Amino acid sequence: MTRPNPPSSPVCFAAEASDSYMGYHDRDELVQALSELLEAERAGAKVGVGLVEAAPDPDALALARTVRDDEARWCRMLAQALRRLGAKPSLKVGDFYGKVMAIDGLEARLALLNRGQGWVVRKLEALLPKVRDDTLHAELKAMLDAHVENIELTERTLARRRGGSADPISSAR
Ligand SMILES: [Fe+2]
Repeated sequence: MTRPNPPSSPVCFAAEASDSYMGYHDRDELVQALSELLEAERAGAKVGVGLVEAAPDPDALALARTVRDDEARWCRMLAQALRRLGAKPSLKVGDFYGKVMAIDGLEARLALLNRGQGWVVRKLEALLPKVRDDTLHAELKAMLDAHVENIELTERTLARRRGGSADPISSAR
């Protein structure tokens, strides 16, 4: 006996299933995740500005500018993604900015910055498998790759500074 008129093939059925049913984030979950990342990146961009202003030498300045510009880029990307979802981008600055700038010394700030960037990497790695939209997925993957790259860049800068001359900010105090 054959089954009467199946509604659709399994493939079509999967394509029509809701995001949540398929294990993807729905719109509200995406808005929440992107907003949290946007607030963190806004804090990161402000940290970058602070590091540029306090940079004691060209090596530190180059790194600070890279961090500032990259964090600002991801702020723009996340804000646009939120607008595409019909959400108003959050204007909040994550409390990470205050935490980094409250500590003294370039090296300590860079070390804390990298811990924050590591948090973003873990958030993105958890988020990516739940993003169904190809464009947003590619943007978040680029953000993940850039964060991994900047963490390594910061590690190399820290190693250079720890192995070489003293941190001029700390030694000036
Ligand atoms: Fe970041």
